[in-house]
Parts: sequence; structure tokens; C-alpha cells
Amino acid sequence: MRRQNCKSPIRKALKILTLLFITTIHLSLAQDVELGESLFSSNCASCHYLGPESKKLVGPGLNDHIFEEYTTEWLYSWIKNSSELIASGDEQAVAVFEQYNKSVMTAFPYFTNDDIDNILAYIKVGPAEIEEVVVESSEEVSSSSNSSTILIILLIALVLFAIILARIKNVLKEVKGHPTASLLESAIHWLKASPVVIGLVIFYFVLTGLGTIWDGLLTVGVQQGYQPEQPIAFSHKLHAGENGVDCNYCHSGARHSKSAGVPSANVCMNCHTYINEGRSEQGTQEISKIYAAIGFDPETRSYIEGYEQQPIEWIRIHNLPDLAYFNHSQHVNVAGVECQECHGPIEEMEVVEQYSPLTMGWCINCHRETKVDTTNNYYHDLNDNWIEKYHGEDITAEKIGGLECGKCHY
Ligand code: HEC
Ligand code: HEC
Ligand code: HEC
Ligand code: HEC
Ligand code: HEC
Ligand code: HEC
Repeated sequence: MRRQNCKSPIRKALKILTLLFITTIHLSLAQDVELGESLFSSNCASCHYLGPESKKLVGPGLNDHIFEEYTTEWLYSWIKNSSELIASGDEQAVAVFEQYNKSVMTAFPYFTNDDIDNILAYIKVGPAEIEEVVVESSEEVSSSSNSSTILIILLIALVLFAIILARIKNVLKEVKGHPTASLLESAIHWLKASPVVIGLVIFYFVLTGLGTIWDGLLTVGVQQGYQPEQPIAFSHKLHAGENGVDCNYCHSGARHSKSAGVPSANVCMNCHTYINEGRSEQGTQEISKIYAAIGFDPETRSYIEGYEQQPIEWIRIHNLPDLAYFNHSQHVNVAGVECQECHGPIEEMEVVEQYSPLTMGWCINCHRETKVDTTNNYYHDLNDNWIEKYHGEDITAEKIGGLECGKCHY
């Protein structure tokens, strides 16, 4: 007994230590995968799917199979400069090269082994887990908004119900004294005796009526759910979801400028120079609309000379009125808000729809609730004064001026 007693704190400590060890490993792994994801989507995704080798894009699909076929050292050399490896006569390198019609893979000489480890970690995990996390966080946001209005309505209904019950009790008592009265008579009797009830009922209807009108006024110009048909049936579900292409690949403006921007046909051609068939005949037809816009002949894989290019006329979905100022980089880059918090699960949409109301109230609610990252914020001068001023309190977007009219209105 004694022995055990004196051993157990040591055991506990050991247990805690191993747990800590495992969690740090886990944490550092998780971070690698995220870094790897972003490196992969901006450097490799244009030519490689995540998946079995047979899932070809420009190069073979990448997943676990590469770890079975190649050593890590080989992968380092291949990714840094595949041509060099091929030229050196490496058997495996020459074999893949021949197999892929001698297409040359881009060299990445500036990648460190750490960078490549991160990419490989991501290839191992695949896109599924990361996407799940993103989807979860976007659902949280959407569910919290309506609850307070519902609560107030419930409360009013409850009070009304209680009053009416009390009246009915009184009336029943009176009617008992006149057993011959018909139902209609007793109802009239009850109403005569209770102007308060009538008043309350009228008050209730006026209130709900006004409420509806008010809600209607508030939603004038609100386009939540707007989902126009686009000139080309472009699917975010297919591109950003199934194929895991990063949002920033096509909306590169979101990180460093006011507008996210919609990609030009040239961006589509990074992939569709090679991919000229869709999932169905209709898909193939839709892809040919890109070629028609910029004058590309998929048979000869060349641009038609002297062709007059037409921009693809995408229909704009999200659009604030001119009086309001919104900046993507401030939210995406500085505040670290995920695209999905404002735009919903875009990677699941075949056709994009406006997910959030984009009203002033929506902006302001989020500014009240969202904490600003004070440790890592190069945009604001969140110096010691700020931290001291709000000592112990969370600094929200509201506190740094996120509710000032001038910040959002020109
Ligand atoms: C311009 C297109 C292109 C880009 C970008 C590209 N690759 Fe490749 N990759 C290829 C092609 C094509 C092959 C097939 C071999 C060949 O023809 O050189 C290949 C082969 C590979 C192989 C060997 C796979 C096998 O099954 O044999 C690996 C691993 C690989 N690439 C990793 C990467 C990584 C990681 C990145 C990003 C850092 C990347 N590639 C970026 C085109 C590309
Ligand atoms: C392969 C390119 C590509 C990728 C990757 C991509 N998009 Fe798009 N996105 C487009 C194109 C093209 C349009 C315009 C057509 C449409 O609305 O479907 C668009 C439209 C949008 C719109 C609506 C724009 C408007 O008119 O208001 C939003 C929001 C959007 N994308 C967000 C995202 C997010 C978030 C991701 C990542 C999950 C993403 N996109 C990934 C190409 C892309
Ligand atoms: C990173 C590579 C990549 C980029 C960039 C890209 N696509 Fe695609 N696209 C694909 C792949 C992969 C497919 C699926 C082909 C398949 O499954 O047969 C595809 C399929 C399609 C299809 C057919 C869908 C169907 O139902 O079959 C259309 C239409 C399309 N893309 C339009 C576009 C447009 C428009 C752009 C530019 C805004 C674009 N793509 C940019 C990779 C890309
Ligand atoms: C804080 C909310 C918020 C976040 C986060 C956000 N957006 Fe937006 N997005 C908006 C609003 C608001 C508009 C309308 C802007 C306007 O009309 O000036 C918009 C418009 C767009 C458009 C239409 C074209 C344009 O340039 O305005 C695209 C595309 C888009 N967003 C993509 C993205 C992508 C991709 C991300 C993530 C990298 C993202 N957004 C993150 C709120 C957001
Ligand atoms: C998902 C939450 C969220 C939504 C929705 C949102 N914002 Fe923000 N916004 C933030 C955060 C967080 C910051 C603080 C970022 C920082 O550290 O600068 C911010 C900062 C700003 C700033 C800069 C404030 C300052 O003091 O410099 C402006 C302007 C702004 N937002 C405008 C808007 C507008 C306009 C909308 C609605 C169309 C909107 N935001 C919607 C989270 C949000
Ligand atoms: C966080 C950003 C933000 C702040 C702060 C803000 N607004 Fe707004 N405001 C908006 C947006 C976005 C719209 C457009 C919403 C819409 O169209 O429904 C808007 C719309 C309006 C409108 C309505 C115009 C119309 O056509 O419906 C008025 C008036 C207005 N704001 C006044 C103010 C005043 C006054 C303040 C300061 C007390 C203020 N706003 C602060 C973002 C903001």
C-alpha cells in the first residue's frame, strides 16, 4: 500500500508529461499541415490533385503512394528540381518523366526541406480534415442571430395568455350563475365585461403588424439568398471543394486589397489548357465557353491569332451600396476572419448565393462580438497604452473604432 502511495505522484507526473509531449507533437503536426496546405494550394494544386496516382491533372494524383514509392530524400530533390534529377539519370525520375510524356514539372529551388515536409504532411492528411474545421466554424456564426427576437415574442405571448386565462376564470364564475346562457351569449358577455382583453388583442395585432412592416423596411435592398445563374456554370463545389483549390488562387485580391476580385479567364486557363472535358457532356460544353471567350483552340492547344477576346460577364452577387466602405484585406488578413464566416460554405455550393444579409446591423454585430488579436497586429498600433486602458477586458473591433460612422461611410 505504502509503496503505491509514494509512487503515484511520480506516475501522475509521468502521465502528464507524456500527455504534454503528445499534445505538443500533435499541435506542431497540425500547424505543419495547415502551412503545407497553403503551400500546396499555391504551388502544386494547379498540376496535382490529392488522390490516387490515376487521378491525373497535369501530373499524377498525390497521396500516400508517393511515400511507398520514394524516399523522403528523393522527394526533396525531385520537388526542388526534377529536371536536375532526371538529367542525373536517376532511374525512378526518368521513369515518371517518360510516363508523363516528358512534361516538365516546375522547379522549386527556394523551398527548404521544412517547407517540403509541411507539404508532404498535408499530402498525407488530405483535404478532408481541414475542410471540416472550416465548415464547423461557419455554422456556429449563423445560428446565434435570431434568438433574442424569438425570446421577446415568446414573452409577450406568455403574458397575454396569462391575462386571458385569468379573465376566462372570472367569466366562467359569472356564467355559472346563469346556467341558461348559450355559448355565444356568454362569449359576448365576456367581451363586454373585458375591455382590457379587447384592448390587448387589438394592441397585439397592431404590434405584430408594425413589426412586419418594420422588418420589411429593414430588408429593403437586402439580397440575402440572391443566387443568379452565371454565364458559365462554374462550380465552387467542384473546384474549391472536391479539388481543394484554395480560394486565394482565384480571389487573390482578398488578402491584400479592398476587393477580392473575380478571376479572369487566364486564371481558368492555367488548368483548362489541359482539362477540356467536364464531368459530363454539358460540363464539357461549359468549359468550351471559356475557350470561346478568349479564342483558344483545344484541338491544337493554341490561341487563335487575331481573335477578339470577350470578357466573361459574371453577374455580381455581393454588392454593398456606394455609401459603405468594406475592405477584404482588413478582415481576411488583419483580423483573420475566414471567408466562410461571411460567405458561408462556398466550397459546397454548385451555384454561389449570398449567405449573409450584408446589412449595417450585421457588420456592427460582428464588430461588437469579435475580439481583436492584440498580440500579432501590425495594422493597428495596439501599443501598451491600449492594453493598459482595457486591462483585463477583451479588445473588440468595437473598441478600436469599429462602430464609428466614418470608418464605414465615406
Ligand atoms: C507545372 C505543373 C506542375 C507543378 C506546378 C507541380 N508538379 Fe509535380 N509533377 C508534374 C508532372 C508533369 C509530373 C510527372 C513527372 C514529369 O513529367 O516530370 C509531376 C510529378 C510529381 C511527383 C512524382 C509523383 C509520382 O507519382 O511519381 C511528385 C511527388 C510531385 N510531382 C510533387 C509536386 C509538388 C509537391 C509540387 C508543388 C510544390 C508540384 N509537384 C508541382 C507537374 C507539376
Ligand atoms: C477556380 C477559381 C475559383 C476558386 C478556387 C474559388 N472561386 Fe470564388 N468565384 C470564382 C468565379 C469564376 C466566380 C464568379 C462566378 C460565380 O459567382 O460562381 C466566383 C464567385 C465567388 C463569390 C461571389 C462573388 C460575387 O459576385 O459576389 C464569392 C463570395 C466567392 N467566389 C468566394 C470564394 C471562396 C470563399 C472560395 C474558397 C472556398 C472561392 N471563392 C474559390 C472562381 C473561384
Ligand atoms: C486549379 C485548376 C483549375 C482552375 C484554375 C479552373 N478549373 Fe475548372 N475544372 C478543373 C477540374 C479539375 C475540373 C473537373 C474536370 C473533370 O472532373 O472532368 C474542372 C471542371 C470545370 C468545368 C466543368 C464542370 C462540370 O460539371 O463538368 C467548368 C465549366 C469549369 N471547370 C470552369 C472553370 C472556370 C470558368 C474557371 C476560371 C474561373 C476554372 N474552371 C478554373 C480545374 C480547374
Ligand atoms: C467580414 C466579412 C467578409 C469576409 C471575411 C470575406 N468577405 Fe468577401 N465580401 C464581403 C462583403 C461585405 C462583400 C461585398 C463588398 C462590396 O460590395 O464592396 C464581399 C464581396 C466578395 C466578392 C465579390 C467581388 C469583390 O471583390 O467584392 C468576392 C469574390 C469575395 N467577397 C470573396 C471572398 C473571399 C475569397 C474571402 C476569403 C479569402 C472573403 N471574400 C472574405 C464580406 C467578406
Ligand atoms: C465576421 C466578423 C465581421 C464582420 C461580419 C464585419 N467585420 Fe469589420 N471588422 C471585423 C474585425 C475583427 C475588425 C478588426 C480588424 C483589425 O484588427 O483591424 C474589423 C474592422 C473593420 C474596419 C476597420 C475599423 C478600424 O477601426 O480601423 C472597418 C471599416 C470594417 N471592419 C468595416 C466593416 C463593414 C462595412 C462590414 C459589413 C459590410 C464589416 N466590417 C463586417 C470583423 C467583422
Ligand atoms: C461597421 C460598419 C458601419 C458602421 C460603423 C456604420 N455603418 Fe451605416 N451602414 C453600413 C452598411 C454596410 C450599410 C449598407 C447596408 C444596407 O444596404 O442594408 C449602412 C447603411 C447606413 C444607412 C442607410 C442608408 C440606406 O440607404 O439604407 C444609414 C443612414 C447609415 N448607415 C448611417 C450610419 C451612421 C449614422 C453611423 C454611425 C452611428 C453608421 N451608419 C455606422 C455600415 C456601417
